[in-house]
Amino acid sequence: MATPLPIIDRALSGSDAHEYLAPLFLGTAGENAPAFERALLGVVREHLRWRRSFHPEDPPSITPADQHAPSFAAAMARTEAGLRDLSARLQNSAPMFSPRYVGHMASDLLLPGLLAHLATTLYNPNNVSAETAPVTADLEIEVGQQLARMCGFNTDPGQGAYGHLTSGGTVANYEALWLLRAVRFWPLALADALGADREIAALLSAACGNAAPDAWRLVNLSIDQILDLRDAVNGALATRRNGEELQLLIAQARFESLGTARFLAQHELAAPVVICPRTAHYSWPKAMQLLGLGDAQLWYAEVDAHMRLSPVSVAALLDRAWSEKVPVLAVIAVLGTTEFGTIDPLHELVALREACSADGQAFALHVDAAWGGYLATLFRDADGGVLAHAQVRSRFRYFPSERVYEAFANLGRADSVTVDPHKLGYLPYGAGGFVGRDRRMTHFVGQRPPYLFDPAATARANDRLAQLGDYILEGSKSGAAAAAVYVSHQVLPLDADHFGRVCGHTIRAAEYLFERLQAMAVRLASTCRLVLPVEPDTNIICIAVNPAGNRSPARMNLFGRALFQHFRLDPLRPQSCDFIGSHTSVLRKNLSPISAHRLAQQLDLDPEAFVLQVGDPARDADHLFLLRHTLMNPWLSDDSEAGSFLDSYCAFLERAIAKTLESSC
Ligand SMILES: Cc1ncc(COP(=O)(O)O)c(C=O)c1O
Repeated sequence: MATPLPIIDRALSGSDAHEYLAPLFLGTAGENAPAFERALLGVVREHLRWRRSFHPEDPPSITPADQHAPSFAAAMARTEAGLRDLSARLQNSAPMFSPRYVGHMASDLLLPGLLAHLATTLYNPNNVSAETAPVTADLEIEVGQQLARMCGFNTDPGQGAYGHLTSGGTVANYEALWLLRAVRFWPLALADALGADREIAALLSAACGNAAPDAWRLVNLSIDQILDLRDAVNGALATRRNGEELQLLIAQARFESLGTARFLAQHELAAPVVICPRTAHYSWPKAMQLLGLGDAQLWYAEVDAHMRLSPVSVAALLDRAWSEKVPVLAVIAVLGTTEFGTIDPLHELVALREACSADGQAFALHVDAAWGGYLATLFRDADGGVLAHAQVRSRFRYFPSERVYEAFANLGRADSVTVDPHKLGYLPYGAGGFVGRDRRMTHFVGQRPPYLFDPAATARANDRLAQLGDYILEGSKSGAAAAAVYVSHQVLPLDADHFGRVCGHTIRAAEYLFERLQAMAVRLASTCRLVLPVEPDTNIICIAVNPAGNRSPARMNLFGRALFQHFRLDPLRPQSCDFIGSHTSVLRKNLSPISAHRLAQQLDLDPEAFVLQVGDPARDADHLFLLRHTLMNPWLSDDSEAGSFLDSYCAFLERAIAKTLESSC
């Protein structure tokens, strides 16, 4: 965290913020139940009215006689018993609505979105196509535009950005690689299919700066160069009588048609790589496996001591790839790492991409902002402009550092972004999101089953975005998720004065806890070392605790795991849990020798004992176990009248440390 600002804008951090948030959630004990029930009943009744008004002349399908039959009552009784059983089992769920839940990326949900989700489920629209979801497919496209604008993209028709929902961040990340691969390998297919055609050869050569369009040059074109090349080729082929046949030849020469082995052999290319930080979410190796690229082709760039991607390491990997003639499909940055919430220096990667592009070595840049994406609202004014650093800063004590500010200010320069409404958007699951900088990218993938897409009806460019199943990974998908995001964004537009207030609260909670923990570390100095090994960039805080006098990482980990038992949810006795946390580890292999040494020293561990190798006896010494807290809940407030849950959390942590020390003596 940067140095604190002396003056805090109390207007946004005090009871005003509390008042703003109060109508937006159900409340820890369901305080807003009357409003919730009223609204829910209203939408259920509207739905029933809608049913009744659809061909009211039709005979009823269920008659009063049916309803009075004994079998009817029996079936209803079974349904009710099933629901009672479900309800009883659900009581063992993680109580994510409570401020005592400071574990994973989950919290109470925004009421407008929750109600919209429940309401829309009654209509059960399938957003795979406009035909199966005449209303909610449009809402999804609109939501995609809103997310794109939140990221800072231009959304003009034609070449503007587009976005849509996915089942989650994992699938959005898969889609990013699937799409970027399709775009980046397209010029090679074009050259293969039509390279002998004079007009096309000239276009290929122009894209390569009038140099020979060999495979290596073509595989290093930027996304924009490729999109423009495709437009030019389409323009040229549209004037040919056999244009469609030639398009088919290109399609047949594509990676998607030939598969990895044939395509790479055809172009004498090495297997392509993707570069991501060591902190990347585990969906990235999965994506590599799924796309047949191989997770060994995921090259991990180093991170610094605070788990932020090192652009120097990315540059070194790019140099290596280019010197070995290995195609780089994409570089991934993370805005809000899963474990630590840290923000990669995206602005530096953007600058690196510009420099590399100028040398004919472009790469695609995808940002995995599944977690941190909604924090972009903190940087936006109502017109979509970026607020000045000082303006954003005036609402917090530390946030955002210059680095974090620059990273968010450059989000709109990425080629694509993953951003999940079902995380910091406070909406029900089934709402991940993908945003592409230029909607022309959607033309590089496509499946149009005739039962869903009638070419005559969907020829208009604008319609295409609504035909989601055509250009995204998924098929049937929830229209309710789209409706939830749409209504939530209507109530809370994606700028600093609306949605930003919800996000701002989480940052202030993290700042408050950060300071309390530092004070606690001083207080407990004689009994243990309490350290925040990763400086929080956002709203996730990780804590390492080492009993005084212990020099062994393995023993510290043992202690940490015992301490975590106090924060573990016991699903059979959820009431017995005072606070529920989560955990992670700092892996030695993710740290440079200097950072590892420094961290060991901070914790008073023997630096020589914090080792790299995996396997006995080093297994417990190649990482440091951490308590991990995600501070999402809207009622963690540092300044509400009711007293702060974070103060209670600190008192609980202190007691838990004391008890664990006692039992480990
Ligand atoms: C940075 C990041 N990317 C991707 C994902 C995957 O998202 P999901 O769990 O919605 O599939 C996560 C999940 O925590 C994440 O933190």
